[in-house]
Amino acid sequence: MIEPIANMSGEMDEVADDRLQRAQEKLERMGQTHLLKWWSKLPSVAQDALLQQVEDIDIPLLKRQQAQLAAVTLPVQRSIQPLKSVLRSGDPKLKQEGRKALSEGKVGALIVAGGQGTRLGFDHPKGMYQVTAARRKSLFQLLAEKTKACGMMVNRELPLSIMTSKENEAETKRYFHNNHLFELSESQIGFFTQNSLPLLDTQGRLFLEEKGRIAFGPDGNGSALNCFAKSPLYKAWKESGVRYVVFSLIDNPLADPYDMELVGRAMQTGADVVIKAVERSGTEEKVGILAEVDGKVGVIEYTEFPKDLWNQKGKDRALLYNFANISLFCLSMEFIKKAGEDLFEKMPLHKAFKAVPYLDSFGGVVKPNHPFAWKFERFIFDFLPFAENVEIVVYPRSVCFSPLKNAEGEASPETVKQDLTSLDRSVLRNLFGEEPPQEIVEIAQDFYYPTSDLLERFKGSKLPPSPYLDGYKYL
Ligand code: UD1
Repeated sequence: MIEPIANMSGEMDEVADDRLQRAQEKLERMGQTHLLKWWSKLPSVAQDALLQQVEDIDIPLLKRQQAQLAAVTLPVQRSIQPLKSVLRSGDPKLKQEGRKALSEGKVGALIVAGGQGTRLGFDHPKGMYQVTAARRKSLFQLLAEKTKACGMMVNRELPLSIMTSKENEAETKRYFHNNHLFELSESQIGFFTQNSLPLLDTQGRLFLEEKGRIAFGPDGNGSALNCFAKSPLYKAWKESGVRYVVFSLIDNPLADPYDMELVGRAMQTGADVVIKAVERSGTEEKVGILAEVDGKVGVIEYTEFPKDLWNQKGKDRALLYNFANISLFCLSMEFIKKAGEDLFEKMPLHKAFKAVPYLDSFGGVVKPNHPFAWKFERFIFDFLPFAENVEIVVYPRSVCFSPLKNAEGEASPETVKQDLTSLDRSVLRNLFGEEPPQEIVEIAQDFYYPTSDLLERFKGSKLPPSPYLDGYKYL
C-alpha cells in the first residue's frame, strides 16, 4: 500500500485527487513509489508536471528497458561481412535530375537536432553553436541559409523540418524566431519533437533528477521517422508532392540538406534509401561502420562494432570495413511511413552508462563525474535492414563531413572551422577557376547553389580580399 500523501486530502478538487490516485496506483504497479517522496513539498505547477511524467511512462517499454539491464546478455551473434559494392559520387546527370526534382517540389530536408551535445560542453541546443570563421554563424544559421540559397537556385521555397527534443524545443524555437527564421518563411520551416525515455539506475529503478522531476532523456535520433511520420508536417509534405527526404545531423555543417546528386540517384532508381557515406579516416575515428549485417546493408555503431574486425585489412592493405556512416540518407516518403509507423516497435534499444545528475536521499542534486545511470536510445540506421532497396554512394569527405562533437581535438570547433574554410575556398576555385584571395575565410551559402545571376555578377571581376564574401546581397 502507498502512504496517503498528507496535504492532498480535502484541499484538491476531485479531478486532481483522481489524477494523483491514478499516478500512485501506476507507480505502485511498477514498484516506483519513491518518485513521490517530495510530493508534498512541491509547488502545484511542479506537482502537475510530475504527474504528467508519470502518465507518460509507457509500462511495456519500461519493462523492456529493465529486462535489457537485468539480462546477462550474450552479444547477439550477427554475421558481419564487408560491403559488396558501393557507388562513387560525381555523376553530373544525376545532379541534373535531382535539381529538377527540387524545382518540382519533390524534395524536403529533415534535420535531427534533439541531442544534448554533452561532449561539446555547450549548454544550449547544439545547433546554436557558432562555427564559421568570419561571421560566426551557427549550425542552425548555416542550415537555414543553405535552404534559402538552394531555394533561390531552383526558384521555389524548399521545405525544411527540424527535430528537437523536449529538453531543447523551446530554446530552439525561440532562437529561430528571435532571428526572424533567418529569412525563411513560416510556411517552409517546421519543427517537431522527439520522444523521451526514462533513465534507469543500476538497479533498474526510475529516479529523480530534481524533487519534482523524474530523469528522462531524448530517446535517440532513431525516433525521427516515427515522430515525423506522425506529425502534421508529414501529411502536408505528402499532399504537396514531396517524394524524397534528405535526412542529416545538425552537427555536420558540411552536410548538404538538399544534395542534388543523392536525390537524383534516388529518383532514378526508386530506392527506399540512398546512403551517403565517406571512407574512414583511419582506425582512431569514432564512427558507425557500414557493413553487410545478416546479409543486408546495415550500420554498427563504433561502440558495438566487434574489436577484431575494426582494424582488419584486406590483401591490398586497405581496411576491410572502410566505409563510415555519417547518418546522411535520402529516404522515400513511403519508406518513412513504413519505418516510422510499422517498424518503430521493432527497433532495438541501445544502452549507454552516463554521468547524469540525480537527487540524493536528502533532496540535494548530485552531479557525478562518473557514470551513474543507463540511458536508452534508438539509432536512425537501425531502419536500414528493413529497406527493400538500398544504395550507398561514397563522397569525398572534404565536401560533406566535418562533425562537431568535442570541445577540443578531433571533431571540435577548430577542425570544423578549418574544414568549412577549406571547402568554401575550393567552391570559389571551382566556380571562378582561380585561387581566391587568401583573406577570404568564409563565403555566403549562395555560392554552393549558384544561379546564373550570381555567376554573372562575379565573372571576370576580382574577388574582394575580405574575410567574408557575400553572395546575393551584392546583386
Ligand atoms: C552519429 C552516428 C554515427 C556516425 C556519427 C558521425 C547515430 C546514431 N550515430 O554518432 O554512426 O558515425 O554520427 O558523425 O546517428 N540526436 C537527436 N536526438 C537524440 C540523439 C541525437 O536528434 O536523442 C541528434 C544529435 O542532435 C546529433 C545527431 O543526432 O545531431 C548525432 O547524435 P549522437 O547520438 O551524438 O551520435 P554520434 O555518436 O555523434
